[in-house]
Amino acid sequence: MDSFEWNKIIGAILGTAIFIFVVRLVAENLYEPEKPAKPGYVVEGVVENPAGGGTAAPAEETMPDWGTVLASADVAGGKTISTKCEQCHDLSKGGPNKIGPNLFGVVDRPRGSHEGFSYSSALKAKPGNWTYDELFKFIKAPGVDIPGTKMSFAGLRSDKDRINLIAFLRSNADSPAPIPAAAPKKEAAPAAAPADGAAPAKGAAPAEAAKPKAP
Ligand code: HEC
Repeated sequence: MDSFEWNKIIGAILGTAIFIFVVRLVAENLYEPEKPAKPGYVVEGVVENPAGGGTAAPAEETMPDWGTVLASADVAGGKTISTKCEQCHDLSKGGPNKIGPNLFGVVDRPRGSHEGFSYSSALKAKPGNWTYDELFKFIKAPGVDIPGTKMSFAGLRSDKDRINLIAFLRSNADSPAPIPAAAPKKEAAPAAAPADGAAPAKGAAPAEAAKPKAP
């Protein structure tokens, strides 16, 4: 064989290789493998969220019966806990806004209403007042309760700490927000019976369960 024939052979091999390469490239693009809707394997410890968002929605927690818990809350203990908030919040009457807004009289105050503070759009978008329930949820995990809030505070897990803190925040006002009537329970004196006349039944359900969930 002379070199001319070798050239033809090498040329044919190269041509075929390029042809196969191109066909495969086109085929791969045409028939992209379909991703299964559900992975065939489950990673342990990963919570699957049916809504498809980032983190799974937290379970709705039962709210304390404020009429009962506020009456017996440890306000001084709550004041101690409030030092964690003072990194970012001034709690005194007429005090300045710091990283967060002044919190004097925050209980029952309309959300995002403190003069001179530039709230996040996430917080401003949520209407309503800072009721006991709303504070209880927010302080547990600000970023979960109001995604996008500027309050970069991990939150207080303990129910007791939050109740004591809220009792202190309530007292830290010109005219503390009213304490709602306690849900009927067995040790309540007859005089404290609710207005609808229902006598406190012996062995009644615990206060948390007795309170109807707010809409
Ligand atoms: C790291 C700083 C920081 C800490 C610590 C912090 N906050 Fe905040 N807080 C903020 C900021 C910033 C905002 C404004 C949030 C927004 O605009 O989204 C805020 C907003 C709030 C609001 C809403 C007030 C309003 O006028 O609507 C409440 C209530 C609140 N904080 C309570 C607390 C409590 C109670 C604690 C202590 C357990 C606490 N915060 C700890 C920074 C903080």
